[in-house]
Amino acid sequence: MDTPYIIQFPKIGKTIEGYISVAENDLLPFDVKRVYWTYFTPESISRGGHAHHELEQILVAVAGKIIVTTRMPGEPEQKFALDSANQGLYMPKYCWHTMQYTHNSVQMCIANMSYQESDYIRDYQEFVSLAEVIFK
Ligand code: TYD
Repeated sequence: MDTPYIIQFPKIGKTIEGYISVAENDLLPFDVKRVYWTYFTPESISRGGHAHHELEQILVAVAGKIIVTTRMPGEPEQKFALDSANQGLYMPKYCWHTMQYTHNSVQMCIANMSYQESDYIRDYQEFVSLAEVIFK
């Protein structure tokens, strides 16, 4: 079973002129099919609260700070603080995750498949039961 991990992207440039970061080729564990972004999320709101059957994705805080809490089947909870535009959090399939954002956060997600509601597991008990069957 794969686990979530941080990917460091190149940071090209310098303080006086700004930076470019790039996600391409060997740094990515999958072929990219979709990019979406999330913004204007109030600090009081927790988003996510689901896992996926097939979706793998990389979350990048291109602005602000995002606290991501993950749980893989049968594993303890992990917390990741994303606050650098040159790092991403890879989340494999069957990764239960929730996110909280600072008011200025922009989250970019790089994903391996198109949006499919049928790929979501939105009920935590269903996630736990499925995980017991799949990862026993
Ligand atoms: P969801 O993935 O549940 O958001 P989050 O993980 O940030 O809580 O998606 C929220 C809504 O947006 C849901 O109704 C589905 C819709 N949506 C799309 O239509 N296309 C997409 O690519 C994504 C990511 C979500």
